[in-house]
Amino acid sequence: MNVAAQPGTVYLAGAGPGDPNLLTLWVLRLLETADLILPDDLVSAEILSLAHAGAEVIPVGKRCGQPRITQAEIHVLMLEAAQAGRSVLRLKSGDPLIFGRAGEEIAALRGAKIPFEIVPGITTAFAAAARLKTPLTDRSAASKLILATAHHAAEKLELTPKWAGALPKDATLVIYMPGRRFRVLAEDLISSGIAGETPCVAISKATTLDEHVYSTTLARLDDGAVGPAPVILLIGNAIQVP
Ligand SMILES: C[S@@+](CC[C@H](N)C(=O)[O-])C[C@H]1O[C@@H](n2cnc3c(N)ncnc32)[C@H](O)[C@@H]1O
Repeated sequence: MNVAAQPGTVYLAGAGPGDPNLLTLWVLRLLETADLILPDDLVSAEILSLAHAGAEVIPVGKRCGQPRITQAEIHVLMLEAAQAGRSVLRLKSGDPLIFGRAGEEIAALRGAKIPFEIVPGITTAFAAAARLKTPLTDRSAASKLILATAHHAAEKLELTPKWAGALPKDATLVIYMPGRRFRVLAEDLISSGIAGETPCVAISKATTLDEHVYSTTLARLDDGAVGPAPVILLIGNAIQVP
């Protein structure tokens, strides 16, 4: 399989959670060959430094303090470059198909009849579990794994997910984009029926040099003890972190 970037093609790719050692060889090859790279803000400078000198890099993160780029503007950048015959690496953190608005980008690419490939990456849940040396499933504690977010398309709806009834007792719950109101989130989960004593780990900047781990229970989860964004929460009886 030729994994070098091809003219006029868009690659929706995952860069993993931060550590460049967790890149796939395919993404590395695309960094070495793509004409245009459009990275999200969680893609680290260390990973972008692997791009070849001739690549044009336009950061399209929506929260890097710059004037906000809209999703529609990202589509225009991506489609126009491909229509002009350039190869485009649209690089997202983790896996591109997990909480990455990939559906909208795929629809735009299909609509414009642009050839594209999806290049998987290691999603944060899997990398975080590896860093914590904990399983996500367990024969006696967790037969289900739920990847969820506390963040909705309309940002004001943060913390509005309806957890009640959605969480079987034998599930591990991983929450992406948990917001910063961890106590409120924990209370919502407890009132939906999850036991307060359920293990809960908040891992911040997983796999980077600034990684911060806070291991507690849902009932004791304290806003002030959680490290800075990005943060992911792992909750469930299979989560065993001393
Ligand atoms: C827009 S989502 C992207 C998820 C990504 N596609 C994935 O598969 O991991 C961003 C969220 O992923 C989580 N995240 C991404 N990188 C992380 C990291 N290195 N450490 C902790 N959480 C991270 C955080 O919950 C963050 O708010």
